[in-house]
Amino acid sequence: MSATVLVTGGLGYIGAHTCVALAEAGRDVVVVDNLANSSSAVLDRIAGLTGRAPAFVHGDIRDVGLLAATMREHEVGSVIHFAGSKAVGESVGRPLSYYDNNVGGSMALLAAMAATGVRTLIFSSSATVYAQSGRMPLAESAALGASSPYGRSKLFVEHMLADLCGSDPAWAVACLRYFNPVGAHPSARIGESPRGVPNNLMPYIAQVAVGQRERLSVFGADYDTLDGTGVRDYVHVLDVAEGHVKALDYLQRAGGHAAINLGTGRGVSVLEMLREYERASGRTIAFQVAPRRAGDVAQCWAEVALARSLLGWQARRSLAQMCEDSWRWQRDNPQGYR
Ligand code: NAD
Ligand code: WQD
Repeated sequence: MSATVLVTGGLGYIGAHTCVALAEAGRDVVVVDNLANSSSAVLDRIAGLTGRAPAFVHGDIRDVGLLAATMREHEVGSVIHFAGSKAVGESVGRPLSYYDNNVGGSMALLAAMAATGVRTLIFSSSATVYAQSGRMPLAESAALGASSPYGRSKLFVEHMLADLCGSDPAWAVACLRYFNPVGAHPSARIGESPRGVPNNLMPYIAQVAVGQRERLSVFGADYDTLDGTGVRDYVHVLDVAEGHVKALDYLQRAGGHAAINLGTGRGVSVLEMLREYERASGRTIAFQVAPRRAGDVAQCWAEVALARSLLGWQARRSLAQMCEDSWRWQRDNPQGYR
């Protein structure tokens, strides 16, 4: 079997689901995570689902020596790089911390890869790297231009990786631009466990449904959309996880450099999501219309043809499954992993 996959940030939300998908594909995994936004309890949960916990190194990706030693010790052949900070609003107030963790962390990882001869990388990018043109769907060739320090940190790393691949064809790199990953593993053993007030729609709805928060604020009902509320491309986190397995197969087969959207290609409004979640949970979800949130676009969804043609991947799970799996996770783990 092929060499071990290093998964940075592998105990986080998308990372944990990807560890499960990798194990199911027969891949050996070593996780490096500093637990800044996760819990070591995730290891047991993964083991419960796959029969074996991934190897785990508690450490920071900005530590080049630690990364290089881990790569050597575990005979790492490829890297999936999730580790980073992800709150758009927080990044506006703490830009240097975001550039340090997301750009500095990625540079440290690349230095360790260069030192150990590992040349295959999947990078967690985001739909937030696209400029706000309003034209949908967003194809990978659309104009780039992020509007927050978080978004720019993703864009800088994407540019860095393109330059690196241009300098040396031995590198094989995929930047996967996620749209809005939601939901949880259907077992309800792993899921999203936000600290404090959730920034994102589905975790907020989930906390209202379970009775931890009173009502959802719908940020704007006067957009030029079907029902006036914001429209996004929500994609099941397990579909996203499986996209990484396909991307790894692809890179090991074809090499090269690509940026690829992971979404469903379908837009869903805030109110549609709320109604679907009410159906899935059997609970009424109170809401109030609030002012628009700064920086939000009216609508955003992906062109998904490239993922299909290059990776043979397409999202399979429905909005109903996203809501049902999120609800099961929230109901069974109201305090997340805590
Ligand atoms: P997450 O916060 O749940 O996971 C990130 C993990 O990285 C956490 O376990 C955290 O402890 C770890 N980490 C952070 N800094 C680290 C460091 N310096 N060293 C070692 N570990 C570190 O986030 P997620 O939702 O799983 O997102 C994973 C990646 O995908 C991130 O890079 C994020 O920016 C990107 N992304 C996420 C979304 C989304 O909506 N969740 C959308 C687009 C892109
Ligand atoms: C979705 C819709 C809100 C919360 C963010 C990041 C993006 C990516 C994914 C990392 C919007 C509305 C939300 C609430 C609401 N992350 N909403 N009330 O903004 O599309 O994307 O997460 O890369 O970079 O920006 O996702 O879930 O925050 O919002 O009405 O309490 O729900 O206005 O229309 P977003 P979201």
